[in-house]
Amino acid sequence: MRVGILTGGGDCPGLNAVIRAVVRKGEVHHGDTFVGFRDGWRGVIESSTMHLDVETCRGILPRGGTIIGSSRTNPFKVDGGPQRCRATLAELEIDALVAIGGEDTLGVARRLSDEGVNIVGVPKTIDNDLSATEVTFGFHTAVQICVDAIDRLHTTAESHDRVIVCEVMGRHAGWIATYAGIAGGAAEVLVPEEPFDIAVVCENLKARHSKGHYASVVVVAEGATPKEGTLSVASGEVDAFGHARLGGIGNVLAEAIEAGTGFETRATILGHVQRGGTPTAFDRVLATRFGVAAIDCVHDGGFGQMVALQAGQIVRVPLADAVAELKTVDPELVAVAEVFYG
Ligand code: F6P
Repeated sequence: MRVGILTGGGDCPGLNAVIRAVVRKGEVHHGDTFVGFRDGWRGVIESSTMHLDVETCRGILPRGGTIIGSSRTNPFKVDGGPQRCRATLAELEIDALVAIGGEDTLGVARRLSDEGVNIVGVPKTIDNDLSATEVTFGFHTAVQICVDAIDRLHTTAESHDRVIVCEVMGRHAGWIATYAGIAGGAAEVLVPEEPFDIAVVCENLKARHSKGHYASVVVVAEGATPKEGTLSVASGEVDAFGHARLGGIGNVLAEAIEAGTGFETRATILGHVQRGGTPTAFDRVLATRFGVAAIDCVHDGGFGQMVALQAGQIVRVPLADAVAELKTVDPELVAVAEVFYG
């Protein structure tokens, strides 16, 4: 078969491992040839491609990012976008497309699949917020990067008797914040799922410091929001999928904590460092399993489906299920983080 591959949305450690696995299994075991579409759906709309084979994929397993590029292009927001996608696939004689992405990329995949395009999805996001899969590759790498940063922030916070607010990614779900907060010993973890009250945050920090702890690290997800009327946060510009560009709650929070507690407070925004660099061994293995399963799914004619991890096994789920619901943080996990507040 002639198979197209694209990576869409925010990049994520492990994307190259998926590409390598799809190409390796496809070329060597199924006799496939491959076309890489550059920069996600933009490459399909504009027929911007690169050749992919086992040779071009050598050495990419440990590399972060994606060798075929990514973008947040939404074909359904581009004039004639879906028609242009179908025309490109027909011209290049693509039999099937492997789309690697999060809710937005897979949402487009689902719509095109409903219109008859042969697509198999692979879930990707450091945010870990796709409900059909237990975990996405890239998440554990991002968490480890955050934990390394929090460990470092702790020692400098202790030296200066400071509170340090560490802002991590997580637009709609606080998985990274909660995991990194628990593993890093955060004094407080603020997530989008539970709007916070700045007065309570300050009380907890004051209680903690009154017991002789003069340094605290507060972990906040970029999408965390204050309870209505308790703190004002500016909203950012919106992308082609309608998502606001986040980042900045950490600074607002640091100012409010300093004002509310009298403790010197600084903010560190980890930002895109969380998405860069080499994937952990776990993420490389998961990405490789997804890649192998995706090309096998193509050969079984399992179009309109996505590979996923459930109870440790790779399964196939309808693309519709994959994007139906957001996977938010389990309240039990938030309760574990809360044991260490105050
Ligand atoms: O969706 C993954 C993610 O990393 C979010 O956590 C974050 O809000 C967003 O991407 C950032 O996107 P961009 O790289 O376009 O700024």
